[in-house]
Amino acid sequence: MKPLSSLTNNLHQSDIRSVTARVNAVNGINLGQGICDMPAPGPIKEEAKKAIDQDKSIYAPFGGADPLVDRIMDKVRSFNQIPVKGAENILVTAGSTGAFATAAFALLEPGDEVIQFEPLYGYHSKLLDLRGVTQKSLALQKPSWEVDFDKLESLITPNTKAIVLTTPNNPCGKVWSPEELETLLELLIKHDLYAITDEVYEYMTYDGREHLSLASLDGAFERTITLSSFSKTFNMTGWRLGYATGPEEIIEKMGLLNDILYICAPTPLQYGLAEGFATGSSYYDQLLKDYDKKRTMMCRALESAGFDVPWPEGAYYVLANFRPLAGQPGFSNDQEACSTLIERVGIGSVPGGSFYSNPDDGKFQLRFCFAKKEEELKEACRGLEGLT
Ligand SMILES: Cc1ncc(COP(=O)(O)O)c(C=O)c1O
Repeated sequence: MKPLSSLTNNLHQSDIRSVTARVNAVNGINLGQGICDMPAPGPIKEEAKKAIDQDKSIYAPFGGADPLVDRIMDKVRSFNQIPVKGAENILVTAGSTGAFATAAFALLEPGDEVIQFEPLYGYHSKLLDLRGVTQKSLALQKPSWEVDFDKLESLITPNTKAIVLTTPNNPCGKVWSPEELETLLELLIKHDLYAITDEVYEYMTYDGREHLSLASLDGAFERTITLSSFSKTFNMTGWRLGYATGPEEIIEKMGLLNDILYICAPTPLQYGLAEGFATGSSYYDQLLKDYDKKRTMMCRALESAGFDVPWPEGAYYVLANFRPLAGQPGFSNDQEACSTLIERVGIGSVPGGSFYSNPDDGKFQLRFCFAKKEEELKEACRGLEGLT
């Protein structure tokens, strides 16, 4: 038989999925995979059911069903303060992952260079690999994940086309400050670069921090593609609905790519979301309160288990450092520590190496996701507290 495409050569099951299988085998609690198992909001589910009953079953326009595009437009203008002019600046996609894929195809080609920040979200780098672009990474500086802008500038070459930024960040929870975003924008303008910003955790920022979209800054919109999603905000990772906001000429091309790759995002679910969209602030206030409580539970449990814990500023993960436990059996590296937690207390986590281009940089880190039902998270925390 002739070989498969060489594009598939480096594709392997991610650590995250293999941990899930091992935790399920011991009937444990999975704090590895970033899926929130809380229910989706009732009104959205009701409206989606109605849309199915009303046979809103045909292809939607590839840019998105009109009512949903309108609701997104309102939201990005008010919450994100992004200066969109109209529907031509919005694209509904199959999750923000669909938006990232079309952004990568619309902007980049083999040979282009893209800069990211580490620790990073692996799906971005895997997709950029498929696209054949050269990736460079700047390590955020521990413990508070600061950006060394001189080093960042030194990575820029004439081939650099874009910078990819995730705020709030998965896995480390960094929330980019207004000053950092301003400095980044100066570099983007100086070197004529694009930015792709992944903001899927935009409603989860702690200790009074506020989410700021790069595209809301003066002069940023024309060079920024902002990605967001309903997956995390409304606990609907499996619905596969997200969106991109950006300049018309880029969004138009991303829309055409969307059409070729999968035509459109699921139509009845788009109508359901549009009608049931929670615009009131109480939903988001409650969401934040619940996650803040879970963040505290998770961080304290890890601290009492002996981990060194940089409390996340946003999102719903903790990237904890187990170097203080490294002298004990079972904790000599991230893969071994991950197995130890599954075997001793039935808890799944993600080995830190998965978040770095050089896996050794995450050798003493494990990522824990606290987007879990409270009872289950409590049980996991009790397990962790009894670990050592
Ligand atoms: C930073 C980040 N971006 C994107 C996604 C995927 O989002 P979506 O479900 O909208 O494709 C995730 C999921 O874990 C994520 O952590």
